[in-house]
Amino acid sequence: GYDVSKLLKQTGAVTFDPGFMNTAATTSAITYIDGDAGILRYRGYPIDQLAENSSFLEVSYLLIYGNLPTPSELENFDRRIRRHTLLHEELKGFFGGFPRDAHPMPVLSSAVSALSTFYQDSLDPFDDEQVELSTIRLMAKMPVIAAYAHKKSIGQALLYPDNSMNLVENFMRLSFGLPAEPYEMDPTMVKALDLLLILHADHEQNCSTSTVRLVGSSNANMFASVSAGINALFGPLHGGANEAVLNMLRQIQSSDMQPEDFMEKVKNKEAGVRLMGFGHRVYKNYDPRARIVKATAHEILSKLGGNDELLDIAMRLEEKALADDYFIERKLYPNVDFYTGLIYKAMGFPEKMFTVLFAIGRLPGWIAQWREMMKDPQTKIGRPRQLYTGEGERQYPMR
Ligand code: ACO
Repeated sequence: GYDVSKLLKQTGAVTFDPGFMNTAATTSAITYIDGDAGILRYRGYPIDQLAENSSFLEVSYLLIYGNLPTPSELENFDRRIRRHTLLHEELKGFFGGFPRDAHPMPVLSSAVSALSTFYQDSLDPFDDEQVELSTIRLMAKMPVIAAYAHKKSIGQALLYPDNSMNLVENFMRLSFGLPAEPYEMDPTMVKALDLLLILHADHEQNCSTSTVRLVGSSNANMFASVSAGINALFGPLHGGANEAVLNMLRQIQSSDMQPEDFMEKVKNKEAGVRLMGFGHRVYKNYDPRARIVKATAHEILSKLGGNDELLDIAMRLEEKALADDYFIERKLYPNVDFYTGLIYKAMGFPEKMFTVLFAIGRLPGWIAQWREMMKDPQTKIGRPRQLYTGEGERQYPMR
C-alpha cells in the first residue's frame, strides 16, 4: 500500500529489495549454483560426483580449506576431530536444564552459543590458530551436542564419545547406543546419513548462512555466529521444512484426503500451508540434491524398512505437482528436503531431530563462509537501510 518510488526519493539512493531477491551481499569462492540449470558445485566439484565418491569428512575439508585433502591431510583432519569430541562436563549439565519436551534445535543453538563460555581460548576471529581450533572444536562437538539433545528428550543416558569411530559413526552411536549393550553399527545407515550430510553441506548465501555472515560481520566469534545460524535454520521455511514435510504426509495419510485433494487446497491457499519441500528461491528447476535423495530413497527405505505408504504419497504429490500449471508457472520443484524426512524416519530419528541433522550437515558450510568472510578485505559490518513509513514529526502533548 506504499508508494515505494516516493519513499525512495525521501531516503536517497538506496536499493529496495525485500528478501534480498536481487542483492549479492558478498563475493564467494565456495559454492556455485545455477538455479535455472539445476547445477550445484562445491569448490568446483559437481554435487553428484561428491555424493557418489566422497565422504562428509572429506567434503567438509574441501569446503573449509578449498581443495580436496591428500590422504594424510584427511587422516590428520579426522584425527584432530576425534580428539576434540569430549564436551566440558559442566556443559553436559545444560541438557538437564531444559524441559524434557524441548525441541532439540533451540537446545543445540543454546549449547553451541555456550561454547564461547567454555572455550574462551579460541574466540579471536583474526588469530589463525584460534580459528583453526574453534573449527575443529565445532566439527567435533556439535554432533555430540546434537545426539545429547536427542537422548535427553527421550530420557536416556548420555554416552561418552568413542574416538575409535569417525564423526558420523560416533554420532549414530551417541544417538542410538545404550550404556548396557554394545552398539551394532548398520553400515547402510552410516552411508545414507553420510550422503545426506554431504548434500546439505553448503548452499551459498541461504538464510542461515547469511545470518552466520551478518552476525560474524560484527566480528562476533565463530560459536556465536554459528549459533545464530542454527536459529535461522530452525524456521519452517528453511531447515524446518524437512520436519514439516513428514507432518504434511502424515496429515494426508491420516485424513480421508487424497494427495490430489490436498494439492487443490494448497493451490487455493486453503490448506493453511504450502506444499512443504517444494519451491526454492534459487532453483527454478529440479533441485539436483533432491534428484540424488529421491534416487536413493527407494533403495534405503527397502533396506531399512521405511514407511512405503508415506513414500507413495510423496511420489504422487510430486507427480501431480510436476504436471500442474500452478507449479509449472511458478517453477516449483521438489527441494532437497522433500524426501529426506522419510529416510531420517526410517533410520529411527524422531521428526524433531530432522532439522538438527540438517544443521550438522550445514556446519562445514557455515564455518567455511565465516572463515572466508573474516579473511576478505572487502568485509564490512552488515547494516542494511530501510524505507521509513511511520509518522512524521509529532509534538509530545502537554498535559
Ligand atoms: N507450495 C505452494 N506454493 C508455493 C510454494 C509451495 N511450496 N512455494 C512457493 N509457492 C508460490 C507462492 O505462493 C507464490 O505464489 P503467488 O505469487 O501466487 O503468491 C510463488 O510460488 C512464489 O513464492 P515466493 O514465496 O515468492 O518464493 P520465495 O523464493 O520467496 O520462497 C521458499 C522460497 C521459501 C522456499 C518457498 O518456495 C516455500 O515456502 N517453500 C516451502 C517450504 C520449503 O520447502 N522450504 C525449504 C526451502 S529449501 C531449504 O531450506 C533446504
